Amino acid sequence: MNKITAAITCVQGYVPDYILTNKELETMVDTTDEWILSRTGINERRILKGEGKGTSDMAAEAVMALCAKRGISPDEIELLICATATPDMMFPATANVICDKVGAKNAFSYDIMAACSGFLYSIVTASKFIETGQYKKVVVVGADKMSSIIDYTDRATCVIFGDGAGAVLLEPNTDGLGIMDSVLKSDGSGRHFLHQKAGGSAKPASHQTVDAREHYVYQEGQTVFKFAVVNMAEVSAEVMERNHLTADDIAWLVPHQANKRIIDATAKRMGLSSEKVMLNIQKFGNTTNGTIPLCLWEWENKLHKGDNLILSAFGGGFTWGAVYIKWAYDTK
Ligand code: UT7
Repeated sequence: MNKITAAITCVQGYVPDYILTNKELETMVDTTDEWILSRTGINERRILKGEGKGTSDMAAEAVMALCAKRGISPDEIELLICATATPDMMFPATANVICDKVGAKNAFSYDIMAACSGFLYSIVTASKFIETGQYKKVVVVGADKMSSIIDYTDRATCVIFGDGAGAVLLEPNTDGLGIMDSVLKSDGSGRHFLHQKAGGSAKPASHQTVDAREHYVYQEGQTVFKFAVVNMAEVSAEVMERNHLTADDIAWLVPHQANKRIIDATAKRMGLSSEKVMLNIQKFGNTTNGTIPLCLWEWENKLHKGDNLILSAFGGGFTWGAVYIKWAYDTK
């Protein structure tokens, strides 16, 4: 029998309706549309509004629509992995909540936390379950309600992030299509430059931590930028080289959408022209685990069976990585 690989067979995204524009941000903090656009490439981002609404609500929308699109019932899902940095609560896993909301009664489920690289870590993890031959339907959903941990008085971070979710279905393939290879890395010494100071076991929530605004994203932007530019480019080139792929062989770069300048540097290192780069940061900003599946969702109609894709990300941790995929289907 041919080797089993894990192929993405369906993609779906969900973004909330509310659009937070650069113009509106100008009324909230000392910033300008021009600064945000030139430094990041972002015009607007989506924000999830509504009392009690969390990451699982966006993820559940994406997963339900994914199942409807593929023509399967949620109870056919065997495993659901949620990649998120903004779980509904510390425990249980948001993936458990999503399964309950969509009616995925037969799935076991858990979260993967690897900040902005979580979606890549998760599809690689999911692919290993498929490759054993034991699992036939695995859903990975990358979802973040970043607005829940953003300080909208801090201009250095509030202009960057947005809310959104994207889900993929992975199924076995025996035609040599799907997830072919990956390079995943982490370096925890990077935690000092991008983290949330309080709310975890090392520094539980208290009046003091709330007063000190320690439940928000803390980022030393320039330092993270320097690591991201070098490492996202490096790992993307590495996965190409070890699979003997040249720029001509690559149909699309699917980059994490943190900053257009980081994406441009990665494409340049890979020798790719901008026409081969998926870019939607201008509309959605940085949705952390949502960025890559939201790109796949928006570009799904342009993808062809056999296309070589490189998915690439860098984020908090530090975590980073690149995944080589041979796309498995043409959209009807
Ligand atoms: O996805 C997770 C991984 N995260 C990333 O990959 C993010 C990586 N970092 C970045 O994308 C960039 O560092 C930022 C977009 C966060 C910041 O851009 P930058 O070009 O590195 O700006 P900077 O932090 O060096 O700040 C330059 C200036 C500073 O003013 P002074 O000190 O030169 O007077 C900031 O105070 O820009 C100021 N500034 C702003 N000005 C207007 C910072 N934020 C803003 C703002 N509007 N929103």
